[in-house]
Amino acid sequence: MKFHIIRFAGVPSTMDVCRTMALQGAPEGTTIIADEQSTGRGHDGHKWYSPIGTAVYLSVLLRPSGLTSRDAHAQLTLLGALAICDVVENIAGSCDCHHRAQIKWPNDVMINGLKLAGSLAECSWSGAQIDYAILGIGLNVSTDFSHAPDSLNGRATSLTNAFNIPLGVPYVTDCLLAAVEARYAELYSSDNNFAHDYASLLETVGKKVVISQKGTTVTGVATGVTSTGRLVVATPKSVVEVSYGELSDASPPKL
Ligand code: BTN
Repeated sequence: MKFHIIRFAGVPSTMDVCRTMALQGAPEGTTIIADEQSTGRGHDGHKWYSPIGTAVYLSVLLRPSGLTSRDAHAQLTLLGALAICDVVENIAGSCDCHHRAQIKWPNDVMINGLKLAGSLAECSWSGAQIDYAILGIGLNVSTDFSHAPDSLNGRATSLTNAFNIPLGVPYVTDCLLAAVEARYAELYSSDNNFAHDYASLLETVGKKVVISQKGTTVTGVATGVTSTGRLVVATPKSVVEVSYGELSDASPPKL
């Protein structure tokens, strides 16, 4: 995939700019990067705190040929979370630090129990075929949370907080794009490591979970994850696979 990067000082959300470009026929790899967002968004209608110049906010347009399953959406979310973890692992390796990122199902990337980053996939379908997908990633590099909403208090972190080393947004952006490119190439390989890597990074397995879905909740113990990112939950009555929903109880409420 070749990235066509378009930078903005500020946008409401890189997702919306990217979607507009997708609808205008922009090619795969079109990447919208902004210094700040006024209405950055996360999963389940949550806001994404997006102050200026201290984090990566980007959306990449993908046109994944041949992805027909509705699990494609989960797979792309998972791809984003894995790419973020790859960046953390590289940085940890380069400074000989021992922090490791973990994933709170499905898309929250955590360090030391605090949220560092998140990925968001939005897909557009033509029948059973994906027309285009947008992979959005927000990754805190040196974010100052002192003016953040109270809901983030004590729950979020940044790379510089976690590693205690100075890191620039441009450097982290380059690392992240390289990781997205490598993971996206893996999507097409029959022996991709997604499922294995995702399972090994998932902190949710073994925990009691409550997953809120539209109008229902699933309560039980998370026992594993399928190759397409569905969470396997043992409820008092049966074992179910959950493909979406907002997780609570396993760790502090979602940001
Ligand atoms: C989540 O953890 O809920 C996902 C957060 C995704 C945030 C990124 S920032 C860049 C892109 N633009 C948005 O409005 N959201 C995503």
